[in-house]
Amino acid sequence: MRDDYRSSRRALDATDLARVAVMAATIAVLGLPGSFSVLGAVPITAQSLGVMLAGAILGPRLGALSVVVLLALTATGLPLLAGGRGGLGVFVGPSAGYAIGWIAAAFVIGLIVHATPYKPTVWRTALGVVVGGILVDYAFGIPVQSLVTRLPLGETALTSLVFVPGDLVKAVLATLVVLGLVRAYPRAFRRT
Ligand code: BTN
Repeated sequence: MRDDYRSSRRALDATDLARVAVMAATIAVLGLPGSFSVLGAVPITAQSLGVMLAGAILGPRLGALSVVVLLALTATGLPLLAGGRGGLGVFVGPSAGYAIGWIAAAFVIGLIVHATPYKPTVWRTALGVVVGGILVDYAFGIPVQSLVTRLPLGETALTSLVFVPGDLVKAVLATLVVLGLVRAYPRAFRRT
């Protein structure tokens, strides 16, 4: 299921592209319930769950690519982000760092979850989605939000704590989904 990122010179085949397309569509669908804001201009959205699934299921290369595809289509104006948002404006707004950070988040999640040739374990999956999906994404999101809103970095970081409970729930859900897939399709997660 995931790509063999160690042989990174391997060209993508039609199956890879289909996986990337399905994952990009899944992230878009997770935006359909909409979004809401508690503090400030960055929404709470289920799409970050899709980003966790992308890296954990497809691995670093294809996972990140599926986010790139989603964001590229969004940039053309398609309303693929939660709340039906799209267009270049998204990439200069307060949530831009989080959205762009999703690429690095999916990549890091894939690196951690698929760090060994063996199928993902519960702890490696949980570690991957928390480190990549929360720490890495916030590392992109908070400084950009601070820059755009002109709120000091420390205060912006404090307001971002509002996302943590929901993102931890998403991390648990992503881990359960991945483990379910590993059980249902063990061969898809084994390198040899
Ligand atoms: C966008 O739709 O413009 C991007 C939204 C980014 C939202 C970030 S992702 C991490 C954190 N968790 C959330 O639920 N919201 C923020």
